[in-house]
Amino acid sequence: MGQCRICRADFAPFIDFGKMPLANGFLTAEQFAAEYFYDLRVGFCEHCGMVQLIEQPDPTQMFHQNYAFFSKTSTKMATHFQEFAEDVKSHHLISTDPFVVEIGSNDGIMLQHFAKIGIKHLGVEPSANVAQMAINQGVRTICNFFDENLACQIVEENGQADAILAANVMCHIPSMHSVVKGIKKLLKNDGILIFEDPYLNDVIEKTSYDQIYDEHVFLFSVSSLTYLFNIYDMEIIDVNPQETHGGSMRYTVANRGVCNISKRVYDHLKKEAKLRRSETYENFREHCERSKRELIKALLQIREDGKRIVGYGATSKSTTVINYCGITPELVESISDTTPIKQGKYTPGAHIPVRPYEEFLANYPDYALLFAWNHAEEIAAKEEKFREAGGKWVVYIPTVRVMA
Ligand code: SAH
Ligand code: TMP
Ligand code: ZN
Repeated sequence: MGQCRICRADFAPFIDFGKMPLANGFLTAEQFAAEYFYDLRVGFCEHCGMVQLIEQPDPTQMFHQNYAFFSKTSTKMATHFQEFAEDVKSHHLISTDPFVVEIGSNDGIMLQHFAKIGIKHLGVEPSANVAQMAINQGVRTICNFFDENLACQIVEENGQADAILAANVMCHIPSMHSVVKGIKKLLKNDGILIFEDPYLNDVIEKTSYDQIYDEHVFLFSVSSLTYLFNIYDMEIIDVNPQETHGGSMRYTVANRGVCNISKRVYDHLKKEAKLRRSETYENFREHCERSKRELIKALLQIREDGKRIVGYGATSKSTTVINYCGITPELVESISDTTPIKQGKYTPGAHIPVRPYEEFLANYPDYALLFAWNHAEEIAAKEEKFREAGGKWVVYIPTVRVMA
């Protein structure tokens, strides 16, 4: 049993993925013996609708000076955040000297677009290595975890914000009440909060269970967030579906009564009726179990045929797939990844070697297992030669299949 982090009601897990290592815990052989594991179990709170982990490792174990995720590794995400920044600049910064805060600003992928034209800005980023990259590029950044206390400190030193932005970070923070209280204090009365995270409905519809890992303590929906913001006299005034991270939702939030509420919000609340029923999560568990059986069967068949399989993209998401399905280095000999900090290390739990992308190019495998499926379009365009050379892709979202 767990206690809901939003409404304090008790809730039971609907799926147990078993013992899991940290999704971004890429490690060296010397570190194998001391590797950390926790129980990855997920539940649905019938009272407020929030889907959440029962247990989450301590945030300082996940976000630190060796954090392995650098936002700028994807050109698609770079364009996405440029467009996000443009949208904020043209629609939401109406005061003469606006101030923008971003929570979880990572390597500065979004705030750089405010910094370069001299807009007052501040990033809050606890992982020191990625925060330093942003600082080196002229993005003002505090290296700390956002919460109510830090929000008070920011207001004292900088004044209140016109806009608070956050991408793929709100769903990482277990102490959501402290975060929303902090946002409420930091935001001007007519200020705006815009954030986006993987969307629960996409995870359910695509059986993209790999969005579930230690960092993602919540899987948000419009309904569950409405419950949360209501407590603080705030309301979701708009929602905009995004294609990023396999299906995300962007939420625009304001203090109650300040802005009109878009029809899209009501439409989504209606569409989410099934997300408020427990049977949806029972079905989801069955789909996950089927996906696991079919993926292992496909990989075993390829190996029995004497063919080589290399993983493509040592993503955080892949940690759940690899460890839940029991994928070993005998099935997938290595994983190709462009991130220097991951190369030469081993994947969490299963200890599959992570190799530089250049090795993939120099020695194509017969099959590439697409762990970075959310970047499929960018990768398909880049790997035209692999396909021409007879290479095949194994994909598992939304269903397991092999593509020539
Ligand atoms: N916004 C970026 C990074 C997402 S990864 C993008 O969308 O690509 C999540 C980031 O949030 C990490 O860099 C992590 O260090 C940071 N983070 C985790 N907990 C946080 C907290 N409490 N406050 C601010 N940032 C946090
Ligand atoms: P993400 O799915 O969390 O965005 O992580 C993507 C990971 O995949 C990151 O480690 C970089 C890697 N990657 C590649 O190796 N090649 C690519 O072409 C892309 C887009 C990502
Ligand atoms: Zn609840």
